[in-house]
This record gives sequence, structure tokens and C-alpha cells, in this order.
Amino acid sequence: MTTIRLCALDDLVEGTARRFDVGDLRLAVARIGDDVFCVADRCSHEDFSLAEGEVLADEREIECARHGATFDLLTGEPCSLPATKAVATYAVEIRDGEVEVTLP
Ligand code: FES
Repeated sequence: MTTIRLCALDDLVEGTARRFDVGDLRLAVARIGDDVFCVADRCSHEDFSLAEGEVLADEREIECARHGATFDLLTGEPCSLPATKAVATYAVEIRDGEVEVTLP
């Protein structure tokens, strides 16, 4: 496990997701208020970028822009079809205004 700094919290636009490439990993990082969530940036349905989708703040989910599957940002579990498999999630911490994520 390794913890890396992704960006400043202020670099993330509230209510949206942004893609980060870290080595071979593609990450979708979503901000809801002052909470930040990180999931694998690959929809489990057809390998589409989740960072291009809409963040559903009230549900704490992210919606795939391709076919509309939604995923729980905390657990990675699919919340609606057509996706049936979870996406990976990564622990996020905000430290001194910086967003840090722990990766395998
Ligand atoms: S590629 Fe994401 S729902 Fe189909």
C-alpha cells in the first residue's frame, strides 16, 4: 500500500469528478461538499471512464455517462443496471487541504 498526494482539495470542483492517472491505475475522484471519494475510473459494464459521468450528490453515487449505470462512491457497488459488478474503491484523506489516496 502506498499513499500519494493527488491535488489540493480546492483543485476539485464540488459536485463533479475528475480523472487522475497514477501509474497503470485510472482513478475517478469525486468531490461532494468537503468529502472526496475515489473509485477506479473504469465502469465495470464496458470499461468506460466514470470520471466523465455525473456525480449524484444526494445519493453519493457516480453515474456512467455511457449507459447510465450508477455506483456507490463509498463501496463501489453498482446501484443500477446495466452494471452488475463493483468497481474498486480507494481510501481518501484530506490532510492540510491536500487530497491523499491510498493505493494497493
Ligand atoms: S459502460 Fe458504463 S454502464 Fe455501460
